Amino acid sequence: MNEKNLLPSKPAYEVDFPIERVEAEHVSRREFAKFLCLVSGGMAVGSGWVAVKDRLFPPFRIRGEVFVCRTGDVVVGGTHPFQIEGTKMPYILIRPAEDEWYAYEQKCTHLSCAVFYSPKHGKIECPCHNGWFDPRTGAVLQGPPPRPLPRLTVVIKGGGIYVAEPRTV
Ligand code: FES
Repeated sequence: MNEKNLLPSKPAYEVDFPIERVEAEHVSRREFAKFLCLVSGGMAVGSGWVAVKDRLFPPFRIRGEVFVCRTGDVVVGGTHPFQIEGTKMPYILIRPAEDEWYAYEQKCTHLSCAVFYSPKHGKIECPCHNGWFDPRTGAVLQGPPPRPLPRLTVVIKGGGIYVAEPRTV
């Protein structure tokens, strides 16, 4: 007897589940149109949600000037972390020199790690991916952060340090 005749012509799985490859890979016009409608519908809903969210929850703005601390509370080269009522954003006040005061959001603009001021290096540093910022401008000096640190206006009045929204020129 010929050995070739003993072997089945198709593997067992093809006999049990007969699926034609061409049919299985075919995408009908109707299926393609359905897919396009779902994708564009999803994008339209997403854009609508962003627009509604901006109206319902406008970004936090500081009203007027907010007291942070007394000038004597921060040594030269020191920092003072603080928060402002109405937001959970952490802020940091920096005093790199006797008469220099700067305030920034304390969240890195890369992936939101907490930044800190290093008087030794004279920079604001992000420990997560070694991002550095200029303590006097908030500009990115090194690393992956895509934007400068958001800065607040610092006002000194009667020995007190106050912060306000950045002045627009
Ligand atoms: S989170 Fe700050 S550099 Fe990546």
